[in-house]
Amino acid sequence: MYHSRIDYDESMRIHDTWFSGRRVDVDISDGRIQSISPATSAPSDAAMSGGMVCPHFAEPHVHLDATQLGARLPNRSGTLFEGIDNWATLRSSVNAEDVRERALKTVGWYLRQGTSRIRTHVDTASRTAAEALIALREELKDPSVLGMPVELEVVAFPQEGILTDPQREADWRAVVELGCDAVGCIPHYETSHDAGDATVRMCFDLAEAHGLKVDLHCDETDDPAWRALLAVCAEAERRGMTGQVVAGHCTAMHSWPDDLAERACARVAETGVQVVTNPLDNIVLQGRADRYPKRRGLTRVDELWAAGAMVGIGHDSVVDPWYRLGTANMLDPAYMLVHAGHLTGEAEMTRVFATLHRENHHPFGSPPAIAAGEPATFLWFAASDPIEALRTRLPPRVFYRGQELQS
Ligand code: FE2
Repeated sequence: MYHSRIDYDESMRIHDTWFSGRRVDVDISDGRIQSISPATSAPSDAAMSGGMVCPHFAEPHVHLDATQLGARLPNRSGTLFEGIDNWATLRSSVNAEDVRERALKTVGWYLRQGTSRIRTHVDTASRTAAEALIALREELKDPSVLGMPVELEVVAFPQEGILTDPQREADWRAVVELGCDAVGCIPHYETSHDAGDATVRMCFDLAEAHGLKVDLHCDETDDPAWRALLAVCAEAERRGMTGQVVAGHCTAMHSWPDDLAERACARVAETGVQVVTNPLDNIVLQGRADRYPKRRGLTRVDELWAAGAMVGIGHDSVVDPWYRLGTANMLDPAYMLVHAGHLTGEAEMTRVFATLHRENHHPFGSPPAIAAGEPATFLWFAASDPIEALRTRLPPRVFYRGQELQS
């Protein structure tokens, strides 16, 4: 975990490096980028040479309340339902320090691999976990904790639904009151489609009442009858919440009729809803009951792109009850997406990589810029371009205001 930084005393140059499709020299001093110029061929006394530079990554969807619990109560079947049951058992025994330690460990993994903005969901059935993650959000603003500030956002997520039990609705509302950044719900976990759509409206109502954003688990099922995404688009449009709404997973769309999916992708684009796909979990949790062929269970990234919709890529689980694997390396879900989503075209792989440092920041605000005058906060990969970075998935060197973070 980071606790120190290497200080490049005066200035440094990164020579002949890939940046946004060009070969450039990047000159840095006083913690800022002084210039980005076409790469020179002359010998250089550069601190670094070659490789590639890009902004820090962002993680739009993970569950830090449950992280690092995968071995504490193993998911013997590897299914979504045993994962939910195991989490329901484990969450009653966690205390604040346990949540903090596990979450901090995973955030350290993220940062070491280039991710400094993280949006976590927290199960609203555990007030303890919610309080611990909100406290950690504040703690991580202090750069001395991990070597640079980490921007954490907390989403109030009712894992087992809202209308399924009066206590669940009460817990959900109470956790939002604690000071979350966004409100979530899980329509396909409700008892009917009408109830699911009702919770979408409740979710937007609660978010609006508190001036918060919306981020829901949307249609994370193989059942093509679930279409809460359409209700989400309608509410986002009606309330003018363009750019403030994230619909996570959206896996039912995988099994929708093509004409319905085409209409939905267009609605997602025109209402400014962002879809976040979680390829690691959904490639193994969806299609699980299928014989052959087994559905991939990912949302339609290529068709969302074609419609002009914004897509993010989440890791979702890092060693938790749903997915025992997980590294907090955002290149891993990206790598899974290019495979399972048939996105191995050159432009597609490049776009998947760029999503990690561009669209993935959207839930938090603007993506960070790499330009003259900006703080020298960036990643440097030894890989020669984004496709090589995806192929190797090796961690970058992480820079923050001209200083390199060190473990
Ligand atoms: Fe999730």
